[in-house]
Amino acid sequence: MIIAVDGPLASGKGTIARALSAHFRLPHLDTGTLYRAVAVAVTDAGAQPEDVAAAEAAAGSLDIRAIDETRIRTAGAGVAASIVAAHPGVRAALVALQRDFANQPGGAVLDGRDIGTVIAPHAHVKLFITANPEVRASRRHAELIHRGEQIGFDQVLDQLRQRDARDASRADAPMMKAEDAVELDTSELTQGDAIRAAIAIVEGRRGSA
Ligand code: DC
Repeated sequence: MIIAVDGPLASGKGTIARALSAHFRLPHLDTGTLYRAVAVAVTDAGAQPEDVAAAEAAAGSLDIRAIDETRIRTAGAGVAASIVAAHPGVRAALVALQRDFANQPGGAVLDGRDIGTVIAPHAHVKLFITANPEVRASRRHAELIHRGEQIGFDQVLDQLRQRDARDASRADAPMMKAEDAVELDTSELTQGDAIRAAIAIVEGRRGSA
């Protein structure tokens, strides 16, 4: 069974994808880490994320075993990831890896922006996780503060709105709810409730498949 979990940042998609992976005993890939790692590699090379050639080179030589979890989780890496992710050459370089992961025997859970639409349009279950911008910004702000970053709530909300707009408006594989995806709004849900709701959706879809 392939489960596609898409949605904007801090919607809860990562938490839900990890919980589905544990519950259904499926391997999980957080595809945002790939774009974040490319962004960090571009910056390390002394280039800007807007630099298409530098971003494509970084994507082409990405070593997923060498991804530094701490460095890719900063607010800056998230903003830069959203910029490199808009370059079609970067997306093309990362497609095969993601598709191979999705199509491994037994299935997988992948979360991102274009899993249900581009990476695994044949996924058995597709979830599109949402929450209102203020709720998402306050979750992400708490997470960044917990990681030791000095950043204000307004700046996080600002970055979130800009990233939403960039991710949803890019020409290549924009963030979009697949037609056959089930939308889950986590704005008013506790983490536990959101996970239970997602499991119920997957069970329902699996039953009817
Ligand atoms: O989910 P995240 O915040 O870690 O993602 C970082 C950026 O990577 C996001 O702003 C857009 C990009 N991304 C993408 O374009 N496609 C994906 N499948 C996953 C992430």
